[in-house]
Amino acid sequence: CVFWLLFPREGFTEKQKQQRMPPTALVVGQSVMKAFQHLSTQDLHTRRVEEAYRVVVECITAVDPAMRLYMFGSTAVYGVHEKGSDVDFVALSKTDVEDGKGEDAGTQVAKGLQAEFLGKLARVVRQKHLSWNVEEVRRTRVPVIRVKGGSSVDFDITVNRRNGVRNSALLRAYFEQDPPCRWLSMGVKRWSKRAGLNASVVGGSITSYGFNLMVVYYLLQRGALRFIEPHAIDVANVAPVPPYLPLEPPRNDGAELGEQVLDFLAFYMHEFDAARHVVSLSRPGITTKEQLNWTKNAEDLARMNGEKINYQWCIEDPYELNLNVGRNVTPLKRDFLRKHLEKARETALLTTT
Ligand code: CTP
Ligand code: MG
Repeated sequence: CVFWLLFPREGFTEKQKQQRMPPTALVVGQSVMKAFQHLSTQDLHTRRVEEAYRVVVECITAVDPAMRLYMFGSTAVYGVHEKGSDVDFVALSKTDVEDGKGEDAGTQVAKGLQAEFLGKLARVVRQKHLSWNVEEVRRTRVPVIRVKGGSSVDFDITVNRRNGVRNSALLRAYFEQDPPCRWLSMGVKRWSKRAGLNASVVGGSITSYGFNLMVVYYLLQRGALRFIEPHAIDVANVAPVPPYLPLEPPRNDGAELGEQVLDFLAFYMHEFDAARHVVSLSRPGITTKEQLNWTKNAEDLARMNGEKINYQWCIEDPYELNLNVGRNVTPLKRDFLRKHLEKARETALLTTT
């Protein structure tokens, strides 16, 4: 694709390296662009995961022919599929879909029923695909089966839960307002994994989902996006397989992306008041910890699956009641996050090393 051939390749000048001057926005933007150069030779179309979708539909149908299958997670959020990234599926009943703005049940009974369905599904997947690795994960907040399909894509399957579909559709609706913002999100996600901040790596504490909420919150605070009422997102209006949203190269040679990256880092280092405020897409403007009763007192009492809930770095889930997506950020991890935010300025989100 011709656009990518035009990408500039210069990085930091010798002088900048010697003087340890913070790189300019243009240099930062171009460095981040370069880190994603491998995408230029990839087919990012979401049809690449349709095969996996068909395979999972076949297995779901064998358990219960009335269930429908929805894809969510990064493929839905970005409208592109990056090679190697896993895919999230959820099996929903007809009523789940028709009541597409309904709340997900969080009771032990609901969890038990979900685990039961997933147990049956795991057996079918194992029967049909002998060489695949199928793991039933029960200790998590949401029961899930994790499938490693060898040469084909890896995926997670949950059941009867609309929230993943809804929050992915919400994030996507935001990125559709300004599709190049996906570069900021992708840059931040890549950085969070390399820096050891992302929950998918050992010692990490915030999921990619949490970082996406942080990116969108930052853009909302800057007035770069218009607020969307989370309640307006209805599963009944969401496509089961997310449509493709082509990813164009960043504007102005990456200068704008670089400015956004630096401003994102500055926002979370100096402006976001982590002691009092909450990253939230639930309402426009500022949400305080006080408002949600995410206080020191609540922190001392709250537990989830026996684990402590921290209110040090607060990210409100737009659909789950009283859920801090940043609950695993301990005081130590919050300091670690701050150190990395600071460092990310010089390393252009760890793209220069
Ligand atoms: N999700 C959620 N609540 C969480 C974590 C995740 O509802 N606490 C759902 C979200 O819908 C999210 C999806 O699970 O879009 C996948 O989460 P995650 O893997 O963190 O995000 P991805 O965008 O898929 O990033 P990655 O490429 O790292 O897999
Ligand atoms: Mg994912």
